[in-house]
Amino acid sequence: MAALAPVIDAVAAEVLADVPYGVEVDAVGDLGARFAVQAQSCWLGWPADLEPTLLAWMDDNREAARLGDPVRMREVAESFDAIITRLISARRGPQPPEDVTTELVRLNAPSAATLSGACLVSILRNWTGGDLGSLALCVGAIVHWLATHPAHQEDLRRAVDPELDAAIDEILRIDDPFVSNRRMTTRETEVGGCPVRAHQQVVLHWTEANRDPEIFGNPNVFSPETNAANNLVYGTGPHACPGRPLATLELRLFTRALLQRGRVELSTLSTPVRELPPLGGYSSVPMVLHAKTSPQGDAS
Ligand code: HEM
Repeated sequence: MAALAPVIDAVAAEVLADVPYGVEVDAVGDLGARFAVQAQSCWLGWPADLEPTLLAWMDDNREAARLGDPVRMREVAESFDAIITRLISARRGPQPPEDVTTELVRLNAPSAATLSGACLVSILRNWTGGDLGSLALCVGAIVHWLATHPAHQEDLRRAVDPELDAAIDEILRIDDPFVSNRRMTTRETEVGGCPVRAHQQVVLHWTEANRDPEIFGNPNVFSPETNAANNLVYGTGPHACPGRPLATLELRLFTRALLQRGRVELSTLSTPVRELPPLGGYSSVPMVLHAKTSPQGDAS
């Protein structure tokens, strides 16, 4: 993560440099999605010219998830696999680029325990598909919270890394865009007093659990220290998110770069649009960036 930090920092600065003061932009589509694609392409060594393809795929993926149409969802999943398969093939040719994706492909060399092509695609899909969508939605949730809690913007601008990380985790607890996962029961059991038969699908609703009044009292109260121990944004148990350090770094660097560029307000021209279930967060957060005002009142 330490080696990656300056690279992701540069991506955040570049994405935000394109945002003019006083002009409406969409925090999810214009900022979150572009930041997610560019940050991911940097750490995996994917070519920059893949950006339009990945952005289009994110749109298709969200549309298929909203429709809940299994045929469309399979098509979209297959189109992502095709993108990854092309990247893997390029790394099997002469003079592959030295990057994380090539390192993974080399594990497939005959001397190593062989990873099949399908297995490589599956690993890269796990590292990327969820990352792209959830990161863009997280950016939307963070920007919306900052814009609607202007007093916190100045505090967070000055916060040290662990404070900013804790604040971001808490913002995402209050409005967790990563909604749910599923499990199959292997035997008869009981969850919270509710009997569950064997071989049943159980939905883990992270967004709901993160707002449980029995645990958090008023779930809208921002209290990073009090609520950290029960925060489920990155899951829990053996399948807790292994990408958490990366997601934390990416969201911290993006938020810091945003606050350093200026003050965030919601646009008065259009309103934020909520994502439709099964997705969470916002599909768009129209925002306007203003130059910071110093305590003396002059813009900086
Ligand atoms: C952007 C914010 C992110 C959020 C909110 C998030 C959230 C989660 C959650 C709640 C789980 C638990 C799933 C379960 O219990 O079934 C999970 C699992 C997972 N996440 Fe993330 N994640 C994020 C980013 C990432 C990133 C950046 C990566 C990879 C680079 C990643 C890779 C994974 C993988 C591979 C799993 C499956 C782990 C397993 O099943 O053992 N995630 N994530």
